[in-house]
Amino acid sequence: MYGLVHRGIKEFLLHSASPEAWNRIRTQAGIADDEFEDLRAYPDEETFALVGAVSQELGQPPEDILYAFGRNWVLFTAESAYGDLLEQAGDTFESVILNLDMLHQIVGRSMPDLRPPTFDVKDVKDGWIVEYHSERVGLESMVAGLLEGLLEMFGKKGMIQRLPAASYCEVQFLVTLTT
Ligand code: HEM
Repeated sequence: MYGLVHRGIKEFLLHSASPEAWNRIRTQAGIADDEFEDLRAYPDEETFALVGAVSQELGQPPEDILYAFGRNWVLFTAESAYGDLLEQAGDTFESVILNLDMLHQIVGRSMPDLRPPTFDVKDVKDGWIVEYHSERVGLESMVAGLLEGLLEMFGKKGMIQRLPAASYCEVQFLVTLTT
């Protein structure tokens, strides 16, 4: 994945642990780079190796790491470096989730090898069903964390529940607002 994701993983780790922990993780994941270039595509294997190594270092399951990373990514990494883009996507939680594909299309203009996820969002009684499509497997907890980060960014409280797989969509979430 593009370097901004790897940089986000590093920032997340430094946020929750120490520079020494980061060095152990890099070694464990077999990654020589200490800095990542946002606009360079790194092999997905390195992304997954980093998540695995963080999981070992912090003694938490990979799903928990992906969730926490997704939340942290929206609240800190995207906010600081890509705040303008997030603003373009909308000024409410709903407008941003409706514009996620557009947002990634804009990102793709400067990242030609981008393989972004796509989302279908449907209005339901108390919230939204967010269908997530990706060519990658295993990142659904990260989506839940990203959605949680977005809720917090807009000062909202809500529930994000994974729904059973449907024939048309393997991974979908029900997002309901509680405030
Ligand atoms: C300004 C904000 C954002 C930027 C700049 C951005 C950019 C990116 C980039 C560069 C990737 C890596 C894809 C690749 O290398 O092929 C990615 C992946 C991803 N993005 Fe975003 N993104 C943003 C916001 C969001 C938000 C708000 C969500 C909320 C759901 C989201 C969901 C994802 C997911 C789930 C992936 C993992 C890749 C996959 O599922 O296959 N992104 N994004």
